[in-house]
Amino acid sequence: MDKRFLVGSLAAAAIAVAGFTVVSPSDAQQPSAGPAALTPADSSSLKGPRQPIFFRHDIHAGQAKMDCQYCHTSVAVSSEPGIPSMQTCMGCHAQLIPGTTDSHRAEIQKVKDAWTAGTPIEWVRIHNVARHVRFPHMRHIKVLGDNACATCHGNVSRMSQVYQVNNVNNMGWCINCHLERNVTRDCTACHY
Ligand code: HEC
Ligand code: HEC
Ligand code: HEC
Ligand code: HEC
Ligand code: HEC
Repeated sequence: MDKRFLVGSLAAAAIAVAGFTVVSPSDAQQPSAGPAALTPADSSSLKGPRQPIFFRHDIHAGQAKMDCQYCHTSVAVSSEPGIPSMQTCMGCHAQLIPGTTDSHRAEIQKVKDAWTAGTPIEWVRIHNVARHVRFPHMRHIKVLGDNACATCHGNVSRMSQVYQVNNVNNMGWCINCHLERNVTRDCTACHY
């Protein structure tokens, strides 16, 4: 692992831990509490596909305020945003963040087991345009800005489980914004 990255992730973890308030089941009843205290079993009643590990954006990007690009590292430079590797997770979960309750610990243990076994987690993909369509993330981030994720994906930092807010398999959605912003509607710009 890149040493600078390791140091960076440990520093971020320390910040994340310092800024993290544990949500106990009794706190969750209070209206102003942060991310809800949910167990993996609750994930089947949430919007979006159930993932192999109950990974929570509302805790990581929301409560711990981790930048989207900490994990989706190539979103500003490539078509593919990148899904973080186990190594990125282990930067924090190897020792620093063991989990606060049994069900949290069990989910984090799955991350550790996958890491030990060398098997990547098979995340269920949520947004996926047809193979004949080109969608360059970097072109969009360059013009719409680093914080434009919510424009297309909704407020992911508040999602306990990611779901699709805009149907990306709908050409009209792309064309409407391109029309509004005077961006190309040339068929060959988007289609192979
Ligand atoms: C700690 C790492 C981490 C951070 C920080 C993070 N993500 Fe993610 N993201 C993941 C992982 C892991 C997945 C795959 C599992 C899932 O869908 O929850 C994912 C999935 C997604 C997906 C769905 C991908 C698909 O399959 O279509 C979107 C959209 C997304 N993230 C957006 C964001 C945005 C926006 C932010 C910042 C507000 C962010 N992420 C911050 C790790 C992270
Ligand atoms: C920068 C540090 C950091 C990174 C990187 C990170 N996490 Fe976490 N993670 C946290 C913090 C902080 C918590 C909340 C503290 C707790 O519950 O003990 C947490 C909690 C969790 C939990 C328990 C959630 C719950 O229900 O409370 C799971 C599961 C988890 N992380 C999985 C992952 C996965 C998978 C990755 C890689 C895609 C990842 N984490 C990357 C800091 C991190
Ligand atoms: C203009 C709309 C738009 C913006 C802005 C945008 N996305 Fe996306 N995102 C999409 C579309 C469309 C897809 C599906 C792309 C595909 O299938 O090739 C997608 C897919 C993804 C995926 C899944 C990729 C995979 O390989 O599984 C992630 C993760 C993601 N976006 C993260 C982000 C993050 C983080 C940001 C902000 C930095 C962002 N997106 C900004 C439209 C957008
Ligand atoms: C929220 C507004 C918005 C949405 C939604 C959107 N785009 Fe874009 N798109 C832009 C902007 C802004 C640019 C950047 C134009 C530039 O570089 O000047 C762009 C650029 C592009 C380009 C590069 C065009 C070129 O000149 O080569 C492609 C390809 C593209 N978008 C495809 C898509 C597809 C496919 C979708 C739907 C899945 C989509 N876009 C949805 C705003 C959007
Ligand atoms: C801004 C990007 C964009 C432009 C420009 C665009 N398309 Fe599309 N097109 C899409 C997306 C996204 C889809 C939905 C793909 C999917 O199902 O995931 C689509 C779907 C289609 C389909 C349906 C194919 C199917 O899967 O059933 C046809 C046909 C099509 N486009 C033709 C055209 C033609 C002809 C033009 C030029 C007049 C054009 N498109 C311009 C983004 C674009």
